[in-house]
Amino acid sequence: MNINSTVISGYQALNDISYLLKEKASALLVTDKNIETIPAVQTLIAQLKQHIASVSVINSVPPEPSQHDVAAILAALPTRDVDLVIGVGGGSVLDVAKLLSVLCVDHAPSLEALLAGEKPVTRTTSLLIPTTAGTGSEATPNAILAIPERETKVGIISPVMLPDFVALVPELTTSMPAHIASSTGIDALCHLIECFTATVSNPVSDNYALIGMKKLFASLETAVAEPHNLQARLDMLWASYYGGAAIAHAGTHLVHAMSYPLGGKYHLPHGVANAILLAPCMTFVRPSAVSKFAQAYDLLPDADLALDDEAKSHALVAYFTALVKRLRLPASLEELGIGPDHLPYLVEAALDVQRLMKNVPAAVSANDVRDVYLTLFPSHQE
Ligand SMILES: [Fe+2]
Repeated sequence: MNINSTVISGYQALNDISYLLKEKASALLVTDKNIETIPAVQTLIAQLKQHIASVSVINSVPPEPSQHDVAAILAALPTRDVDLVIGVGGGSVLDVAKLLSVLCVDHAPSLEALLAGEKPVTRTTSLLIPTTAGTGSEATPNAILAIPERETKVGIISPVMLPDFVALVPELTTSMPAHIASSTGIDALCHLIECFTATVSNPVSDNYALIGMKKLFASLETAVAEPHNLQARLDMLWASYYGGAAIAHAGTHLVHAMSYPLGGKYHLPHGVANAILLAPCMTFVRPSAVSKFAQAYDLLPDADLALDDEAKSHALVAYFTALVKRLRLPASLEELGIGPDHLPYLVEAALDVQRLMKNVPAAVSANDVRDVYLTLFPSHQE
């Protein structure tokens, strides 16, 4: 099985993908209702129908899907006899497409078995096409599902879910509103800086993280301010892809561990929860990763290369704080009208995400986690 995806990228890159569709008899396109109306997606659907006898379109993937949503989609599938799964959408759509690619094969494990830890052994041919630049789902072996009963999310993880093909097509992201471009862009930044500083980082993930951060620092604010700037939008798709590739070879840590319970408890969009946590978490991590922070700082377009590493590491954290503000994303839970009532729950739930907490490049106590969460309630700090 090929787990090194072939990436197709650029403006109009989807206009002729007939070479991908040869000898396919049955395709499943996973998307959502808004994405389905984009002209480039309509062109894609027309090509599928021209080359493949049976084409089913699932357009009911909700944001932040739960295990029950995926079970309902599975139950409603006209057939599981599929030899090509295509996902077109944000991270939620791509995660569901990845799951369907391993569930629509003979002798597939059940969804419940996957959630319990059973690993898939094969999948259909798959093509993933992101329409937001942030999750990097198209490059990760992860599918994240909400578990409403436990007010948290879990990751189903297997390299078998990595797709055969990825298409990075900037015109698919131009209708993304500014607040989504900002928050998803911050999610990509979190993937890159967390993977770069993780205990499990290595030269492969470091390379991905460095290339991704360079692209992101140069293009995020332009991409948000100028939705039709195809070069900036394409650079953000690459930054997001590299963030996903860094995750595939290393892993995120503190921001993501502390963000999951915020999503579960307050239903904050993933990128918004990460934006709120980025600077506070990186303030905590900085003393343990001074050299890595300095290397990341050097990639900023206006970096002062004469600074020493300690000063660069502080300047990077200051840049994160200012960036979240300039992008008009919330910097605390208080400004969203959320009080600190759930603090004990949040601390316990974040510490419970051991899969990520073990990647933090410093020892993290319950008090440390509590102190970071407390900064999100500025008027309640002791
Ligand atoms: Fe993320």
